[in-house]
Amino acid sequence: MDAPVDPTQTEAWAKLAKIASVYTPDFRRAFAEDPQRAERYSRRAADLFVDLSKDYLDEDVLAALLELAEETGVAARRDAMYAGEHINVTEDRAVLHTALRRPATDELTVDGQNVVADVHEVLERVYDLARRVRSGEWTGASGKPIRTVVNVGIGGSDLGPVMAYEALKPYVKKGLECRFISNIDPTDAGEKLRGLDPETTLFVIASKTFTTLETLTNARACRAWLLGGLAERGVETEGAVSKHFVAVSTNLEKVAEFGIDPANAYGFWSWVGGRYSVDSAVGTSLAIAIGPENFADFLSGFRAIDEHFEQAPAAQNVPLLMGLLNVWYTNFFGAATHAVLPYSQYLHRFPAYLQQLTMESNGKRVRWDGSDVTTGTGEVFWGEVGTNGQHAFYQLIHQGTQLIPADFIAFATPRHALSDEDGTDQHELFLGNFFAQTKALAFGKTAEEVRAEGTPEAIVTARIFPGNKPTTSIMAPELTPSVLGQLIALYEHITFVQGAVWGIDSYDQWGVELGKQMAKDLGPAISGDAEALAAQDSSTASLIDYYRANRK
Ligand code: F6P
Repeated sequence: MDAPVDPTQTEAWAKLAKIASVYTPDFRRAFAEDPQRAERYSRRAADLFVDLSKDYLDEDVLAALLELAEETGVAARRDAMYAGEHINVTEDRAVLHTALRRPATDELTVDGQNVVADVHEVLERVYDLARRVRSGEWTGASGKPIRTVVNVGIGGSDLGPVMAYEALKPYVKKGLECRFISNIDPTDAGEKLRGLDPETTLFVIASKTFTTLETLTNARACRAWLLGGLAERGVETEGAVSKHFVAVSTNLEKVAEFGIDPANAYGFWSWVGGRYSVDSAVGTSLAIAIGPENFADFLSGFRAIDEHFEQAPAAQNVPLLMGLLNVWYTNFFGAATHAVLPYSQYLHRFPAYLQQLTMESNGKRVRWDGSDVTTGTGEVFWGEVGTNGQHAFYQLIHQGTQLIPADFIAFATPRHALSDEDGTDQHELFLGNFFAQTKALAFGKTAEEVRAEGTPEAIVTARIFPGNKPTTSIMAPELTPSVLGQLIALYEHITFVQGAVWGIDSYDQWGVELGKQMAKDLGPAISGDAEALAAQDSSTASLIDYYRANRK
């Protein structure tokens, strides 16, 4: 892998720095001077309509950002990723989540293997499982059909499936329910298993490594719950695990060690990162819930954006532009966080999903050659569905002292079209808020406007909205499986673009290791080994002491 280009040494960076030093965003003026501004800075990618006109964008900024992408080799790195080169250098792996959504007719040979054929072989097996569970052909140990699928996994083996399941609830087969256990806090499994019937429950144990403490601990707890529950009902437990447990992993040996029938194991590959895996067999619970046809539609959405990212000219390329804008805000305007605000209750887990995707990918302090980064990297991504967020934290976005670029997401057609007694369309009230927020953030409210409302002088300043807060609006006709796939792929590629500009390996996650290791090592001290406790720093020792003294 070539040494990364230092973005701060490029000509484009110097241009951007110069522009930024005198940049005074003024959306009122920009829109007044250019009646075509919305059209000029709106883009389309598959079904997504993306309005960048309320971003800090003009022709000079756009040209310099595109130049930055060129000088830092973003397109070449994208091609290397799509071709299966080992761009994940610290783990010496290809990064091929894009292969997960290629059509079966494609061929992509990586490390001597046609990975597209492998992908479709597993996909067909997942679809076969989904069909059997959905039709009732797959039965539990007592012969009853499955009613609940419990996905046990954490991080990428949880966040994607649960987010997509919640987003696609209208597509879930009636009579089937999915639940998701992730946390090692025993409360999680306790609450999620509450009220379930072991005879009709199927567990999907999802873990790329099949070594993750949380997942294996919860999987064992679920197995004990299942066997205990079946025995209580007088159901034969011999062989029951194979009727109630399937596994998804790259580590099929560990799956067998755990006692799951290899026939019930669905593989994936080291070149699929955990946070990029919802469209692999990690999506098995989702595939069962929404069915193979809808899952295939979900994959086609990813694919449409992969193609757009590969083929659309740079100035029209939505993931490229959004990634570059994030660099612009982070490195030239000091934006430390980025809000994602979906105006769709179905997307209530989307911000949480994006947190792993973006922050585990780009929260890095060294570049792919091991040298220090030369500029700030990953922003904190966060968010909440609108309108709930409006009544919680939007105050700070409108009138606080920090610059928080925000993505607003909405759909033209609702799933539940409600009207109240006087015929008011609730979706229009909802979207009114979506349209109003980006308008208010962009154009604000001046002191004169506040005064003109008769506001007492003493509170005029408190009621001023400075405006000029950057937002990107993303709209689509409807939240379908395909559109959800498009949204996920969009953010995957935005994350890629930022990492490529910064010269970092967005596909490793070494920063999660130290805490994991320490948690394991602390076991003896926590259970009272005096020598192990004495070896701790005084803070850790006193916290453990407190725990030991207070646990009932
Ligand atoms: O600890 C972080 C992490 O490795 C994530 O990257 C991953 O998605 C998660 O743990 C779960 O890992 P696994 O799928 O191997 O259980």
